[in-house]
Amino acid sequence: MMRPTNFSDGITELKKSYEWCLCQPGFFAFFHKTLLASNPYASSFLGEQPNEQSHQILKTGLSTLMLKLQGAKAGDTLMGRAKAKHRAYHDAFPPSLLDSWLESFLTAAARFDPKFTPEMEAIWRSSLSPILDEMKHSLSSFNK
Ligand code: HEM
Repeated sequence: MMRPTNFSDGITELKKSYEWCLCQPGFFAFFHKTLLASNPYASSFLGEQPNEQSHQILKTGLSTLMLKLQGAKAGDTLMGRAKAKHRAYHDAFPPSLLDSWLESFLTAAARFDPKFTPEMEAIWRSSLSPILDEMKHSLSSFNK
């Protein structure tokens, strides 16, 4: 069934898309490869070869964002830890990595979510961008 073009509950749709992605074999390997190709700083955090550890890092970021979008308290707790962790990497973690993360995630979701549509992409962007902007702001002493 086609998804409607106007979502009354965008978060429910995003959650379905997220769960599809998690269940698809190859999703994280593709996400990892796309992110590595798009940002020269990514490999120092994720390694060159996809593996359990790199998948876990990508999954932690995605799950944290989903919890945050759903307004869960755990989302705030994890976001606080994420900011502290990423800031602690100092200028090895440029804010541009967060833009690359979003673009790579959307590329991977478009490929692995069988019901992905341009409307879904717009909802992902408008939902995640404010959270990622806030993360970027917390890294803003670095200017890459
Ligand atoms: C997109 C938004 C992201 C969110 C919400 C996020 C969230 C998190 C969280 C919650 C943690 C665990 C912090 C802790 O428990 O101390 C973490 C750790 C980490 N993140 Fe992110 N992350 C994001 C993007 C990224 C990106 C783009 C990279 C690098 C390419 C990255 C690399 C790491 C690494 C290396 C760790 C430490 C893992 C470890 O200690 O084993 N994250 N992140």
